[in-house]
Amino acid sequence: MAARINTSLHNALSLLNPFNTPLNTKPFSCRNSFRFSKKLPYYSQSSSGKRALYCTSSSQESTVDGADTFVLTTPLYYVNAPPHMGSAYTTIAADSIARFQRLLGKKVIFITGTDEHGEKIATSAAANGRNPAEHCDLISQSYRTLWKDLDIAYDKFIRTTDPKHEAIVKEFYTRVFANGDIYRADYEGLYCVNCEEYKDEKELLENNCCPVHQAPCVARKEDNYFFALSKYQKPLEDILAQNPRFVQPSYRLNEVQSWIKSGLRDFSISRALVDWGIPVPDDDKQTIYVWFDALLGYISALTEDNKQQNLETAVSLGWPASLHLIGKDILRFHAVYWPAMLMSAGLNLPKMVFGHGFLTKDGMKMGKSLGNTLEPFELVQKFGPDAVRYFFLREVEFGNDGDYSEDRFIKIVNAHLANTIGNLLNRTLGLLKKNCEFTLVVDSTIAAEGVPLKDTVEKLVEKARTNYENLSLSSACEAVLEIGNAGNTYMDQRAPWFLFKQGGVSAEEAAKDLVIILEVMRVIAVALSPVAPCLSLRIYSQLGYSVDQFNSITWSDTKWGGLKGGQVMEQASPVFARIELNPEKEEEENKPKVGKKTGKAKVKVVEQTPTVAEA
Ligand code: MSP
Repeated sequence: MAARINTSLHNALSLLNPFNTPLNTKPFSCRNSFRFSKKLPYYSQSSSGKRALYCTSSSQESTVDGADTFVLTTPLYYVNAPPHMGSAYTTIAADSIARFQRLLGKKVIFITGTDEHGEKIATSAAANGRNPAEHCDLISQSYRTLWKDLDIAYDKFIRTTDPKHEAIVKEFYTRVFANGDIYRADYEGLYCVNCEEYKDEKELLENNCCPVHQAPCVARKEDNYFFALSKYQKPLEDILAQNPRFVQPSYRLNEVQSWIKSGLRDFSISRALVDWGIPVPDDDKQTIYVWFDALLGYISALTEDNKQQNLETAVSLGWPASLHLIGKDILRFHAVYWPAMLMSAGLNLPKMVFGHGFLTKDGMKMGKSLGNTLEPFELVQKFGPDAVRYFFLREVEFGNDGDYSEDRFIKIVNAHLANTIGNLLNRTLGLLKKNCEFTLVVDSTIAAEGVPLKDTVEKLVEKARTNYENLSLSSACEAVLEIGNAGNTYMDQRAPWFLFKQGGVSAEEAAKDLVIILEVMRVIAVALSPVAPCLSLRIYSQLGYSVDQFNSITWSDTKWGGLKGGQVMEQASPVFARIELNPEKEEEENKPKVGKKTGKAKVKVVEQTPTVAEA
């Protein structure tokens, strides 16, 4: 069945002349009055006669109140079910980027939240025997709890059922309507409730199954309000041509361009059959389509509680966003629908949309609808937030898909965090205690004079910074790990334990070597803090710094020379406890293999990783 829109002749005419007030089938009174330019608001005419864009820019900062502000968002998560590891992934990545930008000295507004309206939510509330509002409260809270467990330091948490959000959505809708971009029509098509989207028949699998959710789409016929997306075909093409960095990674840009090239069709932005939503202004028989509603959360989140809410104020508090971080499945909404909606409302576009890949299990997208999820609460409880954050950011190339396996998880975090980083600190502090009474003999700058390791570390720090800036989070982790590797190599080559035994000048040299390695550890703590904040704090604490000192670090603290002679270090204790395989499993692994191995690796954490408060 082909999706079909039947517009009235009047509506069709209004589309041909889109800047006129639309001839709606229902009278619409626009309470707010706006003045719109007849020119599309997102272009300016340059002196060369070429049209230039001013709504997106290559720089990622916006200026609010004169400060350098970096506004980044995660998607607003559906509250049909509690979070799984796939939803946590975007938020972990966003938190690391936010922490990095804060280290650079930016004022960061990190927005996350929950998407609570629509058919999918109403259905899952009913299936759980709850009313939708109760259901939303409960599940939304489970997201907040997980973010706390994972050390996610967001600045704004928006719920789409918050009255302040509803006010912004209605005002935005009214603006778009006043711009002539909303009209009424019948629609007939195939709907995927899990995606909350009408699908094109050609993108579906056998039996009209949605390729993402593997469930059949349902035939729907409705009388809805439509957004005139088709009107924005050319402007969108131009925006992408002039600012190709708008969609990242670059290979996703091609996908977006080809959707646009294949022809943009108007889409329905209201639902007659769904009660659980924001009523359409002046037509309470319809509710606003959940995507048209939720995307506005990126703006309504900027508002302050208990203050008068309107679009203009919200925008002045931080719009446009510097970065929308999303999964690749919702790219079309963010890179096509959302920019067109913003243009229609005369608002600037976000500066960048980054579509990351999926966490998969057995090659299939991990998801609530497919029921093949990985429990993030369990994972954090078992292994601590640093291990979870580090593993997914280090293991999955940001942008690509990545599969989870417990064996690989344990192998990676043990090798990198427990051995390369944790052990190095432990060994060095042990030697310092034994030979130097916990005290550094000279400044790290003096200790490193003529030592090539210092240059190596400086180069790797630069590499980490560039990678963080480019959102190459895995490579950023790798660069930090290389610093650890370089420190270990130095330790092994210098063998300070042996030099101490020799005494005299050799022992003096060994004492300097310890300063050098501890400085390496300090640099690692700063450079890894966006990804593994608790671990970094524990390292910093053992180097004799207070929590306040750690909380005020900036990226410039990666510069060699922080540790000073006379500084007293703390007693060594493992900053990252090695995860031991269950002894039964180890025994099993060492036995000669007969037939096929069954069952999952059982793990036991020998020492619970302390939280920030405990560190
Ligand atoms: N509610 C919409 C977003 C509205 S934004 C204004 C939504 N919610 S969702 O809960 O279904 O998905 C939220 C995010 O989680 C999406 O970016 C999605 O890609 C991501 N993930 C969900 N499962 C995932 C994996 N298995 N792997 C990685 N990310 C995935 O869409």
